[in-house]
This record gives sequence, C-alpha cells and structure tokens, in this order.
Amino acid sequence: MRRRAFLGGCSALLTAPAFIKGAIAAQPGADLTVPPIMDIDGDAGHILNAGLGQHGFVDGASTPVLGFDQGYLGPILRMKRGNIARPVVTNKTSIPVTAHWHGLHIEGINDGGPHTEVAPGSSWHPELAIDQPAATLWYHSHTHMRTASQVYAGLAGMLLIDDPEAPDPGLPATWGVDDLPLIVQDKAFQDNGRLLYSNRGPNRMHGFRAGQIVVNGVIRPLASVPRGMVRLRILNASNARIYHFGFEDGRGFHQVASDGGLMPAPLAMTRLTLAPAERAEIVVDFSDGANARLLSGPDTNDPMGGRMMGGGMMGRMMVGGTPEAVNDAGDFEVMRFTTDDRAAPVTTLPGMLAGAPMPEFGEPVRRRKFTLNMEAGMMGRGMQISGKTMDMDRIDARMDKGVAEIWEVEADVMAHPFHVHGCSFKVLSLNGQAADPAVTGLKDVVLVDGTAELLVQVNRTADDSAPFMFHCHILEHEDAGMMGQFTVA
Ligand code: C2O
Ligand code: CU
Ligand code: CU
Repeated sequence: MRRRAFLGGCSALLTAPAFIKGAIAAQPGADLTVPPIMDIDGDAGHILNAGLGQHGFVDGASTPVLGFDQGYLGPILRMKRGNIARPVVTNKTSIPVTAHWHGLHIEGINDGGPHTEVAPGSSWHPELAIDQPAATLWYHSHTHMRTASQVYAGLAGMLLIDDPEAPDPGLPATWGVDDLPLIVQDKAFQDNGRLLYSNRGPNRMHGFRAGQIVVNGVIRPLASVPRGMVRLRILNASNARIYHFGFEDGRGFHQVASDGGLMPAPLAMTRLTLAPAERAEIVVDFSDGANARLLSGPDTNDPMGGRMMGGGMMGRMMVGGTPEAVNDAGDFEVMRFTTDDRAAPVTTLPGMLAGAPMPEFGEPVRRRKFTLNMEAGMMGRGMQISGKTMDMDRIDARMDKGVAEIWEVEADVMAHPFHVHGCSFKVLSLNGQAADPAVTGLKDVVLVDGTAELLVQVNRTADDSAPFMFHCHILEHEDAGMMGQFTVA
C-alpha cells in the first residue's frame, strides 16, 4: 500500500456531512444499532428470507434496500462448532440470489456460491457441518455477475462461530455491551434517498466507492460503551473501499482475531488496514472515560496512480463521492464512541489467547501461480485471473483434499484483496518478505499489493457441479470476471 500520514494530533470538531452533487444531506450521529443474533444451532429450521425492504439511512427519506429477514443487511447468525446448522434460505425477491457463507469451511455444495442460485420464490436447504475455531465470518449474496449490486443493496450479514469446547480466552463477550459488531460500508444517496450505484467505467475499474460511511446501516453512528475493555468485531463489507482504521486521539488498541479466528496473542497497534471482506476483532480500552472518534485514512488504492481519484474526466465519472476529510492527512470519520457509567466486565487484556487447536497444515506438495489481471478489463474486455475471465463452465484448478499447496498470487495495476473459498489459509510472504502468521492470523482474504505466497489447504470437497471460487473481493472486479473455480476431491 502507499501509506499516508495518518491521524495527526489534530482534533477537528465534527464537520458537516459530505455532499455529493445534488444529494440530500445525510445526518450522522444516530445511535449504533446492533443487529439481533439468530442462533442456528440444531435441527430447527431457521428461515432466512431474502427480501425487499425499506431502510431509514437519511432523515426524511426511506430507502429501498434488500436484506435477509430485515430491511437492510441480516441478523447476526451464530453457529456452534460440532453442530450441523440447517438454515433455510428463501428468496422473496424477484431476482436470483445466493447465500454464501464467507469463511466457513464446508463443502462446495453448501457454500452458496454462484452455482447455488436460489430462484425467486424458492428455498435452499444447505447443511452446514460446523468444524472450525471460533471466528467472525460473514455471509452475502454471490450471484454470478451481480454480487456487487446485491451486496451494496444489503444482502449481507455477520456470521459468528462459537466453539463450546475451547477455553474461555478472557475477552469481552457481553453481546451488545462490550462485544459489538461493526459492519462498515460506504454508500451514496440520491435526492430522494435512493441508493446511488454505478459499476460502469471508472466505477468498475476502481471498484465503487462512496462518500457516506455507514456502520450497521447507520451513517457515522454513536456507540455508548462501558468504561473498560470493549471488543469490536469489524467487518469491511464495502464493495471496494480499503479502510485504515485508527482513533483520532491516537490511542492504541489490540487486534485479537483475524479472518479465521483468534490470534495467538493480542497484537498492539494504532492503525488497522482492512480490505473488502476482511475481518478483525480488536479490543479498545475505554477506561479513561473520554469520548473517542474512530477515523479511517483515505483509500489510495488506485489503478491510475492518483489521477482517477484526483479529478479529471475519469474522476468526474466516479459517482459515489469521497468522504469529507477531517484533517490534513485526509482522514475521515467512521463513527464515535462515548463512555457511560457502566463498569466494563473486562478491565485487563489476557496476555495469551489460548484458543482451540489451529487447523493443521501439511507439507506443501505443489505451487500454483495466479495473476490478477485488470489490463484487459481496462481495455473494455473482462477482468481476468491468469489471462482468463471467469467462466461458470470451466474449472481452473483441481486440488486434493487435505493436501497443502503454495499459491503465488500476483496483483496487476493496483492492490487486489484475494479470497479463497472453503478454507482459511496462511500468508507465507508478502512482496518477498516472510510474513509472520502470529501477525497476520489465519486468513481467507489477503490484500495483495505486488505478490503474496499463501499456504492453502482445503479439507472439504467441491465437485464440478458446485466448485469453490477464488477471486478478487473488490466486487466490481469479481463481477467483471476476476474470479476462477476449483474443485477439491
Ligand atoms: Cu465473500 Cu466468494 O466471497
Ligand atoms: Cu467466500
Ligand atoms: Cu481487484
């Protein structure tokens, strides 16, 4: 990444919301809402209805959206290790949708990828045998060439894996009090409150990015937290925006979990970069009782070396707008925290995070190379991986179940968040530098800005009828063809 100066000491007052041309004012500062938890823990049929709804993002307007079981987004699904979860996905919309369990280790047939479309009016009955460490995952529609618009409209939610056998790591765990989900997205609104979206021209090249930051469906919300340690489960559910989170007052925090679950020990940091589809759990100390503002540095991931973002004809064709900067470094507000009188149950962070045993990786038996090509896409053809645009009828790789491989991934023109279905992988190196798994954690998405080497081992099967996907998680790139398919037998 091209890194920018971040979070200078400047404490600008809350600034007016950013406007995009002709758009209505979006009011920040409403209370953070915490989506309800839906336990999917046994045989009972839990129905998840994909449907059309209305959601109040902006004052005085109601926005047509899509959601799972609620207006916008979906409930927090919670599944237990050792159980078979049997959610029923029913499609009450007029378009085909899917429900992909992003980060879940399950067979291809249950994965909810583009081969398992749920037609309007019908239902899908996956059987999810949960066997992986406790983790913060998510779910979203994954319809062939329509994922970006459907996720943007709201077909996404968070998914938690609980491991009843694992020792208690001693982390904050009172849901909605000191354990908060933060589903972070960027949106743009038209005059009438409708969502503004485009995947054409530079919006496709760049990935659609927009000027209003929304957390759990609320524009730049305010969360009231107890004094002490608070755990934030952050999911970047944006189509394309990369965040560089940090607090305005420069306070440090600890990352305790990555995509695939707990890290070996809390990792101290002042800034956290999260690319689309990545998750991180962090613990923030609010015992000082001060108010705090969570900011993000600007997203500088740009195929044109800054020319598209900066303006010019291409810049003007980008319709989503840019969040209003609150300081000279270009940082913008994500949300605010205020402390209340409650004493937090957890006041000290454990030194180690003794979790469940991590999945074991064997010795790698082969290397594969993948190049994420966008040059062809820039010429108006599809985007590609290793010279090929996604084809539902072509299998790009065949893996052996339970056998480790090294995947070398190279990113072309800009940084691409590379995602692999059906597993969590280890990052071995980034741009030729060895990566420390204690720092990266177990991943299912990695931001590749240059080259990466991944240790990939899939312990679930997927056949030609419902293969696993590997793809760029900038959703406009994925829809344009930067995706491939693999089987595991
Ligand atoms: Cu989050 Cu292939 O998806
Ligand atoms: Cu996925
Ligand atoms: Cu990409």
